[in-house]
Amino acid sequence: MAGSGGREHALAWKLSQSRLLSAVGDKLYATPGNPGIAQLAELVSLDLADHAAVAQFCADKRIGLVVIGPEAPLVDGLADSLRAEGIAVFGPSRAAAQLEGSKGYTKDLCERAGIPTAGYVRTASLEEAQAALARFAAPYVLKADGLAAGKGVVIAETLAEAETALVDMFGGKFGEAGAEVVIEEFMEGEEASFFALTDGATIMPFGSAQDHKRVGEGDTGPNTGGMGAYSPAPVLTPLLEGEVLERIIAPTVRTMANEDTPYSGVLYAGLMLTATGPKLIEYNCRFGDPECQVLMMRLESDLGELLLACAENRLASQPQPRFSGDTALTVVMAARGYPDTPEKGGRIDGLDTAEAAGARVFHAGTALDASGALTVNGGRVLNVTARGKNAAEAQVAAYRAVDAVDFPTGFCRRDIGWREVARERDG
Ligand code: AMP
Ligand code: GLY
Repeated sequence: MAGSGGREHALAWKLSQSRLLSAVGDKLYATPGNPGIAQLAELVSLDLADHAAVAQFCADKRIGLVVIGPEAPLVDGLADSLRAEGIAVFGPSRAAAQLEGSKGYTKDLCERAGIPTAGYVRTASLEEAQAALARFAAPYVLKADGLAAGKGVVIAETLAEAETALVDMFGGKFGEAGAEVVIEEFMEGEEASFFALTDGATIMPFGSAQDHKRVGEGDTGPNTGGMGAYSPAPVLTPLLEGEVLERIIAPTVRTMANEDTPYSGVLYAGLMLTATGPKLIEYNCRFGDPECQVLMMRLESDLGELLLACAENRLASQPQPRFSGDTALTVVMAARGYPDTPEKGGRIDGLDTAEAAGARVFHAGTALDASGALTVNGGRVLNVTARGKNAAEAQVAAYRAVDAVDFPTGFCRRDIGWREVARERDG
């Protein structure tokens, strides 16, 4: 398994329970991993950009399945390089990973396939972009085309703000990712995430979740990678889920297969539930972080079997995945200063106490110091995850565990799940 975040800790946790690892000598390796993953897998240090070295490691260890967690190595073609050596990989090819790697590619695909999404214009220069603004109204949605670690989107309230943002974007604020900018129509509604596994032909719905992208309570302050999540997201009713599958996911998979860029892996659809139905905001070519943590907390099926079936194009022969009917909720504990300048090095204690009541604490940016103490080594540090009969109960359980963690240089939002908890309360 490749990656080092809370998402990968959750994946490693479920993979470590897989029947694929039941024979004597079977083993889970992770690179680079983190101290949480180290309790489940042997950590190895591999340069994911050195595809030949990764392939050599897989051959030496007779690796039966490679699971790639983050988007960067997928967009960089790691899956292609490993498949070329006959290694089974869960994750899309470089061409298919453009679904996340290029906003313009995805918007054009939506247009060809008739997928509901915001109207848009692709622009390749500041002049072109400034001229295109006239075709939109405030608030203006501006997106750097390429990967920008979730920070490439600007929502400008006024024309003047939009113009300044465009100057920054074409001026190199997002590096290569900003060489092209997509301008979009603003969509009104509630956001939800929907996941589906696919091998390029068969589609297997894989659950819903709701993320909390802003750093502050009540969804205020700058965007982050995600401060917490819960699953399922009942706002995505079975009826709406059917619509998402039929009008968004299926045409995507079909069009990509027809165009010789079949998509294999997990499709993560960021959706806006608008007054006129669900619309696609964006696709990601990997599991969400922290959405993955709540999906894994509910998954009862064998994750290894499912991901291997995906990698081997035999998803059609798999039974539908089973998920607990409980709600799972995860609270991200971040380092003070995140997302701008997270303070590293602080000490963390109390994880055993937090887990004693049934919560699971997934590690993200943690490290062990020379004395073996757990310390802060990143912006998002821990994902404290719990289950309950509904969102309110899961929220209580998760915060009880959060309060048992001793992390003086950390902070978290205290309102994860608030939309759903309010809906439950107000009936
Ligand atoms: P993205 O990276 O494309 O998911 O965008 C980041 C966030 O910006 C989304 O989660 C939305 O909250 C917001 N956003 C992106 N596109 C739109 C849009 N067309 N209309 C309204 N909000 C948007
Ligand atoms: N939590 C948002 C993401 O993984 O992109």
